[in-house]
Amino acid sequence: MKLTDEQFLADFAEMSVCGATPGGGVDRQAATPEDHKTRAWFSGWLARHGFTESVDAIGNQFGMCELLPGRPWVLVGSHLDSQPLAGRYDGAYGVLAGAYAATRVLDQITDQTLNPQFNVAVVNWFNEEGSRFAPSLMGSSVFTGKLPLEKALATRDHVGVTVAEALGGGTVAHGPAPTLSEVAHYAEIHIEQGRVLEDSGINIGLVDRTWAASKYRVRVVGSQSHTGSTRMEDRQDALYGASLIITAVRELTEEFEPGRLHSSVSELYVLPNSPVTVAREVTMNVDLRSPDEAVLARAVEMLAVRVAECEARSRTRVLVEPTHSWGLLAYPPAGVALARSAARELGLSYTEVMTVAGHDSTNLKDVVPTVMLFVPSVAGISHNEMELTRDGDALRGVRLLTEVLGRLVSGNPA
Ligand code: GLV
Ligand code: MN
Ligand code: MN
Repeated sequence: MKLTDEQFLADFAEMSVCGATPGGGVDRQAATPEDHKTRAWFSGWLARHGFTESVDAIGNQFGMCELLPGRPWVLVGSHLDSQPLAGRYDGAYGVLAGAYAATRVLDQITDQTLNPQFNVAVVNWFNEEGSRFAPSLMGSSVFTGKLPLEKALATRDHVGVTVAEALGGGTVAHGPAPTLSEVAHYAEIHIEQGRVLEDSGINIGLVDRTWAASKYRVRVVGSQSHTGSTRMEDRQDALYGASLIITAVRELTEEFEPGRLHSSVSELYVLPNSPVTVAREVTMNVDLRSPDEAVLARAVEMLAVRVAECEARSRTRVLVEPTHSWGLLAYPPAGVALARSAARELGLSYTEVMTVAGHDSTNLKDVVPTVMLFVPSVAGISHNEMELTRDGDALRGVRLLTEVLGRLVSGNPA
């Protein structure tokens, strides 16, 4: 029985019960019980629809359909994990859309309207979000050889649990998962998480470039003391130092034209975090992004100067460690052209867009011919329970992804 659009919406609603939050979102941080529940739901879906599941050592979950033994794979997917108190669509939409696109392409093969040149697999990349275990894009970074497996597995969350432990202590991998050298193409669809498409009333974004990003772990080290009795001139208050840096990070954006630099400090750990004790140490995450690598480089230089000023003013010591970055690399033009031609054929309106957020395709595109598509996000809201993509937009995206995947699998991009 062929899967209908109504079935897609019903499956999406059913999947969204996994880790559901009272405000209509989901909370499925990587390898938490809620993420495991979502993965189990997806595993069941794959089994019911004729895919063979395999999982690699970092927990990337594949639904495989080997049509031509020994031939390379076309992968399609995204991620099922989420930020805390997040929306239902970020990542999860792309995994289910990929599963539907694959099923529909397999139907075309059965009907002999498509002649496959490659095998097909749907993928749920492990820990795209990086909220529980940093850095983000973990599963696809290991898959593409950018992050060593051992380092990823040894990463600890804030209570000391490692990725390996959270994944089940070495029992996660099973089945013959594809490796990078066996992948011919990758395709991903995702919600835009911005409002370029919605503001312009356009159906589809053809992602042609990514903003550059630089992320840092910043430790502000002071000295613990009594909040009341320590003289002001004697204090080495790590939280005061951190607050100066937080302000400096934000104000850095004012040095550039609007829209050229986005910056945030989004995470803060305060020690000992006690009402009557001056903080001895604060650790935070600094995230800088720009559509211009020169702007980003200039911002990083300016930040170093300002951090030194904050350090002196607060009488603390500040340690800045780069944790994750990516450059402004283009998505393969051939993939953009393929997606453009497919959108045109389906009568969908489209425009080239940059992605500001990172995606698993940010990794894949550097090593494998990749196509990346966006569907509109209402009001550009993301990483929020209110995140929404309208049903019509979601279904149009599945249609386009099906067309793109069909062309990739048939080896006929025209
Ligand atoms: C995703 O991981 C991002 O940092 O945008
Ligand atoms: Mn995402
Ligand atoms: Mn996200």
